[in-house]
Amino acid sequence: MATSAIPYTLLLLLCLASFKTSIATHVCDPQRYQQLGLNMRNFPFCDITKPYSERVKSLVDSMVLSEKAAQLGNNADGVPRLGLPSYNWWSEALHGVSYVGSGSHFDSAVPGATSFPLPITTAAAFNELLWLNIGQAISTEARAMNNLNHAGLTFWSPNINVVRDPRWGRILETPGEDPYTVGRYAVNFVRGLQDVEGTNATSGDLNTRPLKVSACCKHYAAYDLDNWSSFGNLAVDRFHFSANVTEQDMVETFQKPFEMCVKDGDVSSVMCSYNNVNGIPACADTRLLKGTIRDEWNLHGYIVADCDSVETMVDDQKWLNDEPENAVAQAMRAGLDLDCMTYYKNFLVNTVAKGLIKERDMDNALMNNYMVLMRLGYFDGSANYEKLGNADICSKAHTDLALDAAKQGIVLLKNRKTHDFFLPLDPQQFKNKQIAVVGPHANATTVMIGNYAGVPCRYVSPLQGLATYANVQYQTGCADVMCKNDSLVWPALRAARDADATVIFVGIDLTVEHEGLDREDIELPGYQNQFIRQVANAATVKGPVVVVIFSGGPVNVAALETNPDIDAIIWAGYPGEEGGQAIADVIFGVYNPAGRLPVTWYTGDYVWKLPMTSMQLRPDVNLGYPGRTYKFYNGPIIYPFGHGLSYTDFQYELVSSATMSVEKQLGLVQHCLTLNYIKGAPAPPPCNAANVDDLECLDGDMSIVIKVKNVGKMDGDNVVMLYSQAPQGILGAPIKQLIGFQRVFVKAGGIATVTFSLNSCKSLSIVTDTAYVALPAGKHTIIVGTEAPEDTVISIPFNVDIRK
Ligand SMILES: *[C@@H]1O[C@H](CO)[C@@H](O)[C@H](O)[C@H]1NC(C)=O
Ligand SMILES: *[C@@H]1O[C@H](CO)[C@@H](O)[C@H](O)[C@H]1NC(C)=O
Ligand SMILES: *[C@@H]1O[C@H](CO)[C@@H](O)[C@H](O)[C@H]1NC(C)=O
Ligand SMILES: *[C@@H]1O[C@H](CO)[C@@H](O)[C@H](O)[C@H]1NC(C)=O
Ligand SMILES: *[C@@H]1O[C@H](CO)[C@@H](O)[C@H](O)[C@H]1NC(C)=O
Repeated sequence: MATSAIPYTLLLLLCLASFKTSIATHVCDPQRYQQLGLNMRNFPFCDITKPYSERVKSLVDSMVLSEKAAQLGNNADGVPRLGLPSYNWWSEALHGVSYVGSGSHFDSAVPGATSFPLPITTAAAFNELLWLNIGQAISTEARAMNNLNHAGLTFWSPNINVVRDPRWGRILETPGEDPYTVGRYAVNFVRGLQDVEGTNATSGDLNTRPLKVSACCKHYAAYDLDNWSSFGNLAVDRFHFSANVTEQDMVETFQKPFEMCVKDGDVSSVMCSYNNVNGIPACADTRLLKGTIRDEWNLHGYIVADCDSVETMVDDQKWLNDEPENAVAQAMRAGLDLDCMTYYKNFLVNTVAKGLIKERDMDNALMNNYMVLMRLGYFDGSANYEKLGNADICSKAHTDLALDAAKQGIVLLKNRKTHDFFLPLDPQQFKNKQIAVVGPHANATTVMIGNYAGVPCRYVSPLQGLATYANVQYQTGCADVMCKNDSLVWPALRAARDADATVIFVGIDLTVEHEGLDREDIELPGYQNQFIRQVANAATVKGPVVVVIFSGGPVNVAALETNPDIDAIIWAGYPGEEGGQAIADVIFGVYNPAGRLPVTWYTGDYVWKLPMTSMQLRPDVNLGYPGRTYKFYNGPIIYPFGHGLSYTDFQYELVSSATMSVEKQLGLVQHCLTLNYIKGAPAPPPCNAANVDDLECLDGDMSIVIKVKNVGKMDGDNVVMLYSQAPQGILGAPIKQLIGFQRVFVKAGGIATVTFSLNSCKSLSIVTDTAYVALPAGKHTIIVGTEAPEDTVISIPFNVDIRK
């Protein structure tokens, strides 16, 4: 019916266009070879009856040395005489297919892709299924773009470095400060990107299991400083910085998400970082790469360098006064399979000629790389995905998911429920009323999609979102986030004074925090605080005042938290292309917020207490440095990790369980570990702890069942956060550590039951200062919920008995 209305010529054009773009090409296509004037049968790597391992070996064996070198940068040249085309390894998909990385692009044929919230916002949702679903949506769009020759199949995402310091410029790209949360985000997002729907991605030969697209966990390891200058020092940047880290912090914090990404997510790539780790460039460290990622964690995939990491060793780090060939040899021997940029490509031939590496080292690297392309169907095609095209990009389902993700990630920081005004606003009451929408982010568009973005399908700005509920009066108040002066404040004050409600959009953006730029402090820039105070004061006579903050890293909002003119504060992170609607839906109570902060919001003076270059997580008594993250810092804060309010109230209740203890038996020759205790601590059990490697560990040997009661008046989600606390008195043990979280929907007046099935070895262990993962004996505490007031925290004793 619809087609009959389309003119014949247009129809023909449409047919031609869809014919041209719907054929996904793959290397081992006999017709392709015919067109090249070659016979595919002469190339055994195209023999689909042979196993992948034989085929990739055959492909590599067919190349001469110079041809091999030409394949080992992100722009792999291909080998025309073998019918092997060029391939660009570098595509990105941090929160949607991106134009960063030369492997993907947008133009009139593919004008945009769904831009989901930045990971710091998505992380705040604390919803593993959401993370998986976003990965699946992105990989569907990525496959469609690949079919349309607009993207590769290998995506160097996600960024899973743990947020150690609030000043870091790349916090927006990450899932926050808790290694367990970051690891679970990595596992789910990677499985969403990689796993082929309908196949079992955890059984069979994992070396050959098919991939939807290939993901990459980066940047390994101990990378979380970009370019920082303060304390009157010269700038320290990631190309020169040596992260001095203890093995304890490596195991417990810096490597943990990578271990989970490889072991539990079965990611097909890991990227090493620019920085040195204890004096050795991360990409040249054999123990970190080959020893740990490949041998210990059993990576099925390839290890890639951050772009020009190898060159950085020579030009910036002057590592061992290397010539380029030395650096190339060290990286290759360490297990680096692929370089980004041209150092490998330019110097590998000479490196072999000088006798610094075996040519076979290159063969191994190439085989690791081609194995991933084989699994992606790059050689043979992917029947599952070849029909995907434009209709699968920016689909309604995907933009709806982007909106849902933004709503789930929004965190309600403050809401003065005891005051005259508080959230949510009543849509009925505001139908024909006036809302002042002011501040530098009031009409935010590009700000909402942050960095590593693509071209979004569209934007729904806060102004547009709020206009769906009320009449809006828009004034920026500040020219930009720097808010250098108060020259624009008067129109904003007037708008606020006359309005029935005022929403102030402030915060920071990529001019303040980005890759290559750390912050010196965590304050709102320029006149922002003054602007907010003035507007709030002018507005408060008539109606509610809401402040909405855009930022990746935390900002010091102490003055807003205590300001009686400000009724509510919302943290929107960077909420993606649909963000403005999500914010409006939350303000008007169409969506009940449930997001939780994935990082601690410290008071502003925190940053003056320790330099960003200090990597240590635990407090340093000698230097007077406080600890870092909720696990080790117990000084003043504005909001704790896990903070986030709701429009309703929840109560937790433990469903009594028969076994609130476990018993573990050590073998005949195995020793108890001796822990250090704080002076005056209660007498420890005779066997302090056991090395977890010595124990029989079972998933599900520990089960915690919680009833979540919605005792308020509005339906809503609740994030149940479960922490463990080691027995009292153990020196250096975390204050507490997150061991599980679940997001559940509970109707007003209703009850939901949440079951945590845990492994006591994983959930109750701590990392000793000798870097063992140890299960302490004695009385542990399980804590349900974050600090008051949002959760009625409950504590549950859990006993661990270790028998020798
Ligand atoms: C995949 O296979 C493993 C091992 O056979 C099995 O334990 C698991 O339940 C399967 N997963 C799915 C999703 O079928
Ligand atoms: C780091 O920042 C300083 C200014 O503080 C600048 O001069 C320098 O070029 C930056 N370095 C890098 C690598 O971005
Ligand atoms: C790291 O350790 C090296 C070697 O001990 C030292 O020279 C360097 O100053 C340290 N860097 C930092 C940031 O502490
Ligand atoms: C909001 O921003 C969009 C995109 O930059 C622009 O087209 C629009 O005119 C702006 N709205 C107002 C009211 O300034
Ligand atoms: C105020 O800031 C704006 C935008 O940054 C600038 O254009 C203007 O010159 C400034 N005015 C004064 C008086 O400094």
